[in-house]
Amino acid sequence: MTKPTCLVKPVSLTKITGRYLVHQESLPKLPVPPLNQTCERYLSILEPIVDPEALKHTNRLVEEFQLPGGVGERLQKSLERRASRLPNWLSDWWLNTAYLDYRLPVVVHSSPGVVLPRLEFTDSQDQIRFTAKLIAGVLDFKSMVDNETLPVEYLHGKPLCMNQYYQILSSCRIPGIKKDSVVNHALSTDPPTHIIVVHKYQDGRALTENELYIQLEKIWNTFPQPNEEPIGILTSNHRDRWGKAYTNLLKDKTNMISVQEIQRSIFTVCLDAPMPQVSNEMYHTQAAVQMLHGGGSQWNSGNRWFDKTLQFIIGEDGTCGVIYEHAPAEGPPIVALIDHVVEYTKKSEMIYTPTVLHPMPRKLHFNITPEILKDIEEAKENMNTLANDLDVRVVVFCYFGKNVPKSYKMSPDAFIQMALQLAYYRLYKLYCATYESASLRMFRLGRTDTIRSASTDSAHFVQAMDDPAMQNPEKVRLLERAVRAHRAYTDMAIQGQAIDRHLLGLKLQAIEDSLAIPKIFMDTSYVKANHYKLSTSQVPAKTDCVMCFGPVVPDGYGVCYNPMETHINFAVSAFNSCADTNATRLASALQEALLDMRSLLDQTLKSKL
Ligand code: COA
Repeated sequence: MTKPTCLVKPVSLTKITGRYLVHQESLPKLPVPPLNQTCERYLSILEPIVDPEALKHTNRLVEEFQLPGGVGERLQKSLERRASRLPNWLSDWWLNTAYLDYRLPVVVHSSPGVVLPRLEFTDSQDQIRFTAKLIAGVLDFKSMVDNETLPVEYLHGKPLCMNQYYQILSSCRIPGIKKDSVVNHALSTDPPTHIIVVHKYQDGRALTENELYIQLEKIWNTFPQPNEEPIGILTSNHRDRWGKAYTNLLKDKTNMISVQEIQRSIFTVCLDAPMPQVSNEMYHTQAAVQMLHGGGSQWNSGNRWFDKTLQFIIGEDGTCGVIYEHAPAEGPPIVALIDHVVEYTKKSEMIYTPTVLHPMPRKLHFNITPEILKDIEEAKENMNTLANDLDVRVVVFCYFGKNVPKSYKMSPDAFIQMALQLAYYRLYKLYCATYESASLRMFRLGRTDTIRSASTDSAHFVQAMDDPAMQNPEKVRLLERAVRAHRAYTDMAIQGQAIDRHLLGLKLQAIEDSLAIPKIFMDTSYVKANHYKLSTSQVPAKTDCVMCFGPVVPDGYGVCYNPMETHINFAVSAFNSCADTNATRLASALQEALLDMRSLLDQTLKSKL
């Protein structure tokens, strides 16, 4: 049985001024792990993914790095000083390195999409009615953020940093020529009170649920024709290109005012046109495509402003979801907001009370010069190339969910990660550097660290699994050991003791201190360890939804999953331009691996009972 879902209930009906800050200040600071601990753990994660000769060389570099009085010690001390000075030694560096300095398009390469449960709309009225409820649901959640009454979340009994909730509404990414920035208008003295409705590239203004419906209807009826140019597609381009086009776009005052309205809005609602028809089996996959990039310029890719932190997408056919710009937040706060909104939309039908007549939603105008038109054409072309390159497969694995691993006293997340290791090994006969996000929200302003799912223990298990000479009890023992090792790494990561952010910190500290980059970071093992052919994340939700994102390397996979109690939703992505990868193949191998692992446990452990 899945847990009953319910609306998030505010901890108070009135505003509790200062509650957020008091909570934040009570949280511990992110620690800097001991240098020798990270060095030792770094060598052990390399074992399954680099060859013995390379490992020997890296061993020597690591030894030299941590010599008493050496560069490692010097950087560690510098990093510790930084940690004592700042609320979080990592957060600014991470925001810049992972997001704002990253120049590939945010579409596919950074922004995750979320596919919501399918709805049946019979006409545009249904679409508008649902949209009005959804907007009201987001505003209901926003009132908890504004009033500082959002309940504090916990992980393993520890309170979590709530900062990300304060970053996702009324914020937007701003392109730059070499580096982007993020603005959060919720923190301004005059916080925004409007939303943007993108419908055939048009805009709107939000009120109460009933009034919202009327306003949306006005938009629908008054602006039936699409704008001539899908201006929003500019936001899908390579960041340097968009940064340049942005400067050009804003030279015109009308354009500047329109762009500022979008950036200042609380969030965006995209009323999408239908996507190409697909079979029922491919519904979720097609929906993931729609959420991730909109299907290309001839479909819905222009019906977006990809820099906007939160965009809700409501298709004419009932396909609904979200795309969010990743810089301000990770998936879990976004999904918590979505859970609330979905539950809100299930509340009884709207009551049609007489309402005040509100002004007509204001259309945003853009003056398109020949140069802007050229930028739009270039963005369209690049968007279409990217859309054609993305290979996605969403699977609802309906044979079991968290219930089966739990019944065998195993961590469901670790079980799924081991299935992924097995699936990958079966396809490639190799182990690859694998990334799983671990929350650092137990610490003030914490974001994520990396759980290294490919370990010596996972390698032993996957090798044994298909070895005909190996007996089942031994396979089970290796599986249990691998699952325990994964869970132990997870615990270490969420306690701020994983290796990846620490190593990144040491490297960035060297740059900040104007020192030469230490050799361990120039080593091929380090490059290999950071080339994540499997980039994975669990984003659990109460809603039966699935988050999806693109691969982080050209020859890799992105895998996101929502493990429910009796089924698991998976989204697998790859690039068509890589001949070695195929999202459907990995998704099938993953399902097979999960089924084989359960059979192994059933056959071996149940027969013992
Ligand atoms: N026996 C029985 N049950 C077990 C168990 C065991 N040995 N180990 C765990 N479980 C149970 C847990 O109690 C939990 O129960 P619940 O369903 O009632 O809550 C459930 O199984 C899930 O636990 P597990 O699968 O181990 O995972 P987790 O919930 O601890 O999550 C992470 C692990 C890594 C996903 C989580 O710590 C995390 O960091 N999440 C954030 C990831 C993130 O930020 N992603 C976004 C990127 S955009």
